[in-house]
Amino acid sequence: MAEKAKAVVLLLRLNPEDLKIQKGREDWSFDGVIAYSKICTHVGCPVALYEQQTHHLLCPCHQSTFDVSDGAKVVFGPAKRPLPQPADRRG
Ligand code: FES
Repeated sequence: MAEKAKAVVLLLRLNPEDLKIQKGREDWSFDGVIAYSKICTHVGCPVALYEQQTHHLLCPCHQSTFDVSDGAKVVFGPAKRPLPQPADRRG
């Protein structure tokens, strides 16, 4: 359990129909599985609280909220950038 808390990448599985795939990123998820950095883009706290109904991830430090179904864009709080996805190293 402590090792999960130290992870820097979140791996989530959503209903594929709930994912809003961004143009040019069609291959950044598979069958609803998608990965994001756990490090908040505000000042680096680990985001931790997932709200399943809204697909929102909350950073407990200053309450930035990210929509994981829509590229982890910021929907609330002081963060200015979405949570990044791990780089695709195939190409
Ligand atoms: S570090 Fe996440 S909101 Fe400030």
